[in-house]
Amino acid sequence: MCGIVGYVGEKQALEIVVAGLRRLEYRGYDSAGVAVVADRELHTRKKAGKLANLEVLLGTDPLPGSTIGIGHTRWATHGVPNDLNAHPHTSADGRVAIIHNGIIENFAELRDDLIANGVPITSDTDSEVVAHLLAAALPVHDGDLPEAMRSVCRLLEGAFTLVAINADQPDLVVGARRNSPLVVGVGDGENFMASDVSAFIAHTREAIELGQDQVVVLTRDSVTVTDFFGEPAPVTPFTVTWDASAAEKGGYDLFMLKEIAEQPKAVADTLLGRIDRSGSLQLDDMRLSDAELRAVSKVIIIACGTAYHAGMVAKYAIEHWTRIPCEVELASEFRYRDPIVDPRTLIIAISQSGETMDTLMAMRHAREQGAKVLAICNTQGATIPRESDAALYTYAGPEIAVASTKAFLTQIVACYLVALYLAQVRGNKFPDEIRAIIAELADMPSLVDLVLDTAEPVRRLAHLFADARSVLFIGRHVGFPVALEGALKLKELAYMHAEGFAAGELKHGPIALIEDGLPVIVVAPSPRGRSVLHEKIVSNIQEVRARGAVTIVIAEEGDEAVAAYADHIIRVPQCPTLMQPLVSTVPLQVFACEMATVKGHDVDQPRNLAKSVTVE
Ligand code: M6R
Repeated sequence: MCGIVGYVGEKQALEIVVAGLRRLEYRGYDSAGVAVVADRELHTRKKAGKLANLEVLLGTDPLPGSTIGIGHTRWATHGVPNDLNAHPHTSADGRVAIIHNGIIENFAELRDDLIANGVPITSDTDSEVVAHLLAAALPVHDGDLPEAMRSVCRLLEGAFTLVAINADQPDLVVGARRNSPLVVGVGDGENFMASDVSAFIAHTREAIELGQDQVVVLTRDSVTVTDFFGEPAPVTPFTVTWDASAAEKGGYDLFMLKEIAEQPKAVADTLLGRIDRSGSLQLDDMRLSDAELRAVSKVIIIACGTAYHAGMVAKYAIEHWTRIPCEVELASEFRYRDPIVDPRTLIIAISQSGETMDTLMAMRHAREQGAKVLAICNTQGATIPRESDAALYTYAGPEIAVASTKAFLTQIVACYLVALYLAQVRGNKFPDEIRAIIAELADMPSLVDLVLDTAEPVRRLAHLFADARSVLFIGRHVGFPVALEGALKLKELAYMHAEGFAAGELKHGPIALIEDGLPVIVVAPSPRGRSVLHEKIVSNIQEVRARGAVTIVIAEEGDEAVAAYADHIIRVPQCPTLMQPLVSTVPLQVFACEMATVKGHDVDQPRNLAKSVTVE
């Protein structure tokens, strides 16, 4: 959700904070603001809209030089995105400034107490109360912001990352976190804190993960971490494996275009180092013992959005290769249905960001019931892998565009590695069978590359259908989640009505939507796989065409049977059925990206969305 940066050091804080916000803007872009301390006075600037608006304001109304500062880019929860509700929020005496990510659930009662004590509330946010509470706590704690922060955190309910500065302590920045992300960047004569490492990666790759309910105090030479009661807390340092260039557009007009193009490498990197000389799978970060994996009686995948679709694809492979029953569940629904989970249940929590609150809460619920949780994640130091029993990282590099692309492909690959590992440990497959599937996976980067090289016709189709009112996507077997993913991409980027259906389900209702000229994108299974699947999709194509639909069929090279019924055909290379999502999703990503571009939308930062959804 919101992006947060704090800096203290020897350089000009404002430049560092604004550059950090630029890298974090994908997290939220409703409004932005900064605060610095200069000559023991607090100075803030904030503005509704994108960061660019704040930069214009900083041009016309500059801030004084300072070596300490905080900055925020907002995704609104409480209060509309306007100048007043933008962060930082300041105490009534103008001495303390705070920025916040998350939701303070008991803010109404805290606000009422403040109002009863005569404190003027100026915004509609839940966050502002924290600035006033800190101001009230400071005198009680000898004017010490870290102590005041600890005492205020003990009052708060909900999820929060807070960062604060105090005009009377111009040499320190204080942060706190509960169920919301915050990482520390350790520099030389300077230190940083931010929602994620991309904000400070240009300055340091040395970082520290913070645990739950911790307060961190940064000066230019020190990092001190305690719990909310002031007890020293353990910290986990780590080195970021990618550099600043990975979080830049690298010559592409859009992050999304860059990330689509990076998919062959992302898939290859996710496979790298996971196969030993004998061809067996070696998952070093798999902290679950073979005995625990042998005892697994059920797998439940929990995830949201695109990650959920990756989980739906993975279910086919997990059940096929391991014969373990596998359920896939939307994380936001999981804990509310009293799921049957026990110590023999393996939960696979898939999350690119590792911070999605729905997924985090679902996995915590499962752990409370004794289940083991394996996280599939793309972000080092994130909460979900940290709280899991085991983690398998996807090495996709930073994904900045709000619409997930390379994360999807690498999540599928990581799930497949887990499935094969389970099959290896449990003896469901012979080593040569596992090696054969790994070889198929190893071929995928070059096949994805081929799809990218031949994507031009897909772009033309986006222009052709730019005026469509609605687009339907249908698929069977692993093509069904691909259809859902194609529809999600089109919704979030092109703001078009789009729905994905299991092709066989059409005749049970959705076929009523078909009207003259309606584009229907068909993800066709290979005729070389189970022929019955292919025959059935050919029938489904005929059914929609008979009712006036225009069909755009994604079919593998050489599939001539389907070509006869396609108004437009997009070719993808031949590959085994379970590998098909890795190639057939790519044209759908390109289609949605181009469609949004044609319509003049902001592709990387679509309206109403944020990259990392840290509220439930
Ligand atoms: O970081 P996560 O993988 O947990 O995020 C899950 C979803 O919020 C995410 O995939 C979302 O659906 C994307 N914007 C879709 O493109």
